[in-house]
This record gives sequence, C-alpha cells and structure tokens, in this order.
Amino acid sequence: MPPEIRPNVLGLRPYSPGRPIADVQRELGLRDVIKLASNENPLGPSPMAIEAMRDALSQVHLYPDAISSEARGAIASHLGVPENQVLVGNGSEELIALIGEIFIQNEPDEVIAGDPSFARYETAAAVAPCRFVPVPLDDDLCIDLEAVSQAITPHTKIIFLANPNNPTGTIYRKAAFEAFMAKVPDRVVVVLDEAYCEFAKEDPFYPNGLDYLRPNVIVLRTFSKSHGLAGIRAGFMVAAPEIIDAIARVQAPFAVNNLAQVAIVAALQDDEHLERTIAVNSAGRAKMKQAMESHGFRVYESFANFILVDVREPAQPVFEALLREGVIVRGGHVLGLPTCLRVSIGTDTEVDRFVEAFRAVMEAKVKS
Ligand SMILES: Cc1ncc(COP(=O)(O)O)c(C=O)c1O
Repeated sequence: MPPEIRPNVLGLRPYSPGRPIADVQRELGLRDVIKLASNENPLGPSPMAIEAMRDALSQVHLYPDAISSEARGAIASHLGVPENQVLVGNGSEELIALIGEIFIQNEPDEVIAGDPSFARYETAAAVAPCRFVPVPLDDDLCIDLEAVSQAITPHTKIIFLANPNNPTGTIYRKAAFEAFMAKVPDRVVVVLDEAYCEFAKEDPFYPNGLDYLRPNVIVLRTFSKSHGLAGIRAGFMVAAPEIIDAIARVQAPFAVNNLAQVAIVAALQDDEHLERTIAVNSAGRAKMKQAMESHGFRVYESFANFILVDVREPAQPVFEALLREGVIVRGGHVLGLPTCLRVSIGTDTEVDRFVEAFRAVMEAKVKS
C-alpha cells in the first residue's frame, strides 16, 4: 500500500499558471509570442534593483538574513509604520498560507472570500482543513461587502478581501468598506490583500488598508506587480506585532533570499520606475478597454494591471484562437468566469499587438 496522502490535499485543484512563451512557440510553431497572462510588470524590474541584485550575487553562498532586517526597515520607513509590524515573505502567497496556519484551528472554522477571487485563499482553507465560504461578486463583478458581512458566522476565522480583486480588477471604496468593518467582530481576522494597490491609488475613494490597521486587520502587499519583481518572490505584511510574531514562528527561517532582500531596498528607492509603470499601465489599459468595447463587449472597470472582458460565449475557443495569433492571455474558464478573458496590460507595442490579434480573431469569427 502506498502512503496515504491527505484527501483534502488531493481534492485541491492544481494551480493553473499562464502558458509559458516557449511552450506556445514550440507547440504552434510560432516565433513571435507575447504573454499577457500573469499580471507582471512589462517594463521589468527597476534598474536599481537589478544592480543591487548583481552586486549581491557573490554573497549567495551565505544564508540570507533570517528576518530580512534591511528590507523590513526600508518597508517600514517607506510606509511610516513601526518595524515590528512588518514581515517580509517569499511572495505574498507564502504569507497567505501562513496566515491560514496561525489562525485556523478546527474543521468547523470558516474562511470567507469573494467568488471569484485569488485562488490561494481557498487553498489556505482547504489545506487546514476548514470550510471555505465563497461569496459571489455583485453584478459589476465587485466584491459584495454587504453579502460578505452577512456570511459571517460564529465559526468565521478569516475574511480575505483582494482590493483590487483578481481576476476582475474591480475595487470597493471607502464608504462601503467602513460600513463593512463596523459589522466585523474583533475576533475575525480581515486580510486586506493589496497586491495591485499602486494601480488603484488614482481613485480618491480607494481605501488604503494601512489607514485601517487594528488588532484583527492584516495588510498584504507584493513587489511582484508594480515593482516588477515577480520572479524573485518578495511580498510583505503589515499587522499587529502579536500577529507578526506568530507568523515569524511558523515561517521557514530563510524563506526570503539574499537577492530578494536587496532588491526590495533598491526598488523602494526608484520612484521614477514606479511612476512610469503606473503611467504605461493606465495608457495601455485605456487603449485595450476602448478596443474591446469597440467590438461591443463589456469590459469591467479595472484598477489593476489587467482587464477582464466578457466575450459572451465560452472563452476557451477565443483564448485558443488568440494563442494561434501568438498572444497568451488567461481564459476565464480557469478563473471561474467562463465567458471572460483576463488580459494583463503590456507595453504599448504589446497592447497594439493584442488589439490587432483580438480584431483578427473577432473578424474570423464573423466570417465563419
Ligand atoms: C490578489 C493577489 N494576491 C497575491 C498575489 C501573489 O503575489 P506574490 O507574487 O507576492 O505571491 C497575487 C498574484 O497574482 C494576487 O493577484
């Protein structure tokens, strides 16, 4: 008899990543393939972060600083929060899992999140194991905070709120959020996942999670998106010192590597790169939205570095037709929105390439 793997682990859906460029090139015999599928920064990392990592390369025979002191200090002073309220992780995904580990105790415990939202929330609940309570988004595909508050029960342990939400790009605003928070009992942990917050700050009513810190609130952020460091794995959380202390007890001591630590410090100094990233994103997002709307499709209002379009038919064939045009996007069939496509915003050239490919696919459909 082979060893028995926990059934709740076998019941997990494997993560479905965007298709790698090399894969698509090989499979379809294409040379020029672009990937707009993983919400990465099309400008790459800050040159300052690259230089810092290059300088640190000769030190990778040493274990990293176990508590990422310099990166943690840089984040704390950048945000104006005390250092003992910051913890750096191997991407914010690692921190989502650790949050589950420190708060979920028994099977009847419940974890609430929007549906659809970032898939790792459900994974954190399933691994524990405890009950995952998905709360459908509203008609505009925004997180329905009223419905989330109604889903709270005596068993609720954690509520994960992605703002902007992935895969929709939509946000909730201050008034709705404050009304929601007034209804959340202090014993329930509220995780404000702000992976895309830099792209949403243009909205005057976007609530900055750091303004709402209290003993049961955790803010999660990442360097993977606006800072272009997805491959080095760097995220962080801001929370009460007691929560930071508990997470530090379960986190692997060297989870954050040397290169990630120096990249964080350097990236935080490069305001110009961040501003350019945000400007390129806003321009590309507007251009893509306009192009897709010109075909008569609904494009959801996005405050992130991707947009969601409803193509009003099963998205998989459209996804595959775009692949044949050399453009990798994310099909809603793997994201819980079977008639939608999620498209990351690229450089201006990539956006034009997408718009052209989308037009070709739509015209071919009309003719067939
Ligand atoms: C809402 C949300 N949270 C967290 C993450 C994970 O980011 P990281 O690369 O820091 O693990 C993502 C990545 O796609 C995301 O969309």
